[in-house]
Amino acid sequence: MKKARMTIAKEFKVGEVDKRLYGSFIEHLGRAVYGGIYEPSHATADASGFRTDVLDLIKELNVPIVRYPGGNFVSGYNWTDGIGPKATRPARLDLAWDTTETNEFGTNEFMDWCRAADTEPMMAVNLGLKGPEEARTLVEYCNHPAGTYWSDLRCSHGYDAPHNIKLWCLGNEMDGDWQIGHKTAAEYGRVANEAAKVMKMTDRSVELVLCGSSNSRMKTFGDWEATVLDLAYDKADYISLHQYFDNRDNDIRNFLAKSVELEEYIKSVIAVCDFIRAKKHSKHTIHLSLDEWNVWYHSHGAQFEKWSKAPAILEDIYTFEDALLVGLMLIAMLRHCDRLKVACIAQLVNVIAPIMTETGGRAWRQTIFYPLMQVSNYGRGTALTAVIDADKHDTKDFTDVPDTDAVAVYNEERGELTIFAASRALEEDTLLTINLSDFPTFYPVRRSVLAGHDKKQRNTADTGPVVPKDLPLPEKDAHSLDLVLPPLSWTMLQLKERIV
Ligand code: AHR
Repeated sequence: MKKARMTIAKEFKVGEVDKRLYGSFIEHLGRAVYGGIYEPSHATADASGFRTDVLDLIKELNVPIVRYPGGNFVSGYNWTDGIGPKATRPARLDLAWDTTETNEFGTNEFMDWCRAADTEPMMAVNLGLKGPEEARTLVEYCNHPAGTYWSDLRCSHGYDAPHNIKLWCLGNEMDGDWQIGHKTAAEYGRVANEAAKVMKMTDRSVELVLCGSSNSRMKTFGDWEATVLDLAYDKADYISLHQYFDNRDNDIRNFLAKSVELEEYIKSVIAVCDFIRAKKHSKHTIHLSLDEWNVWYHSHGAQFEKWSKAPAILEDIYTFEDALLVGLMLIAMLRHCDRLKVACIAQLVNVIAPIMTETGGRAWRQTIFYPLMQVSNYGRGTALTAVIDADKHDTKDFTDVPDTDAVAVYNEERGELTIFAASRALEEDTLLTINLSDFPTFYPVRRSVLAGHDKKQRNTADTGPVVPKDLPLPEKDAHSLDLVLPPLSWTMLQLKERIV
């Protein structure tokens, strides 16, 4: 059996976990909206056409914020197409995804859906084909109480109370040449700054996310962030990161090491933010928004009919090994929650998503649903700095990758300490000794483990074999406990304070 050690202490804190770390994303793409969250003819649809079977699964995930309406879609989107009487809304070509957008679902439907899903909106504006004016008028339409053209228009659409949307994305992936209205960093930085200026003049309470790089392998990565921040530092609150991983080489060692790449990416973006802060002698700190992340590759090359409505696009069916990487990525995020305040798994339903639906049929949980659900529900509180001593290995692209990775979240109010641990070991169990001297009155109450599956095992609507199982609790003395991590596994260990 392998051995590893983990030490945590109450005073060694990374920081408070912002609940928005467990956000998600709904884009007008494929069956995410139509046939996903919205399907008026579905047996479970409510009066607004929202699928309540899907809402139930979203509530299990406890999703605090949802980014909308794109993604690549937003860079060609005219938000005024999606408001007012549905019968008069125009159908448009969606150039980002080669489909037809009916606009039956728009801003107000999304806000109604957010209320039904018990979540907050994160609204993206079009800085591709549109600009500051359209961004600003959308803020006025959504957030101004009444008495102006745009706010009165909202009232006339049946929404007297302002939506009060707080968090806004200044465009999407503007560094990518695939993006409609792609810009250089200097072009984007100027436009983003002017859009931010008038959006904040319209509503000073909004928080704004600048587009960072589309991923850390972009040729312009680093320079893009520095230039854009230089031009828009004072107006912005966050800068975005996007990161998708794949296992196209079918190399599980290398695949599971990719959370290390995510962590390097996070650290590099923090460094660039702080370089610009120093250069500007500013007291303002820019935080990070990882507003697209996931595994994405299974559906590459899938065909659909051009200009069709809501075809099945990007419908990755996830495996057991994907669930492990999702868990490892969540551990990496928690380790940086002092600066990483927002993260959105991309996406939420049908499109590279933890939740799948059959149009007209069932809704079901993918493998990746489970680590996300556990961390979202129990990873709330203060993330602690864990010192981990584990064997390391090298992979094709990475060196010194720990066999074991883990993080702890302490929730003082609930008297709970939750440890999330993953083992990258291929064959052996690992005995993880956790030093808990600082938590003498805490005892294990639940050990939930995802393990023992073929690495390519998937769930379907009919069968969900990849699901965590509760295992016997480890013994604990006042100072430590020994937790056995099976090979290739994800574990959530919950401890509760017991005062005797
Ligand atoms: O999430 C799918 C797509 O990935 C988004 O539209 C885009 O922003 C990213 O490239």
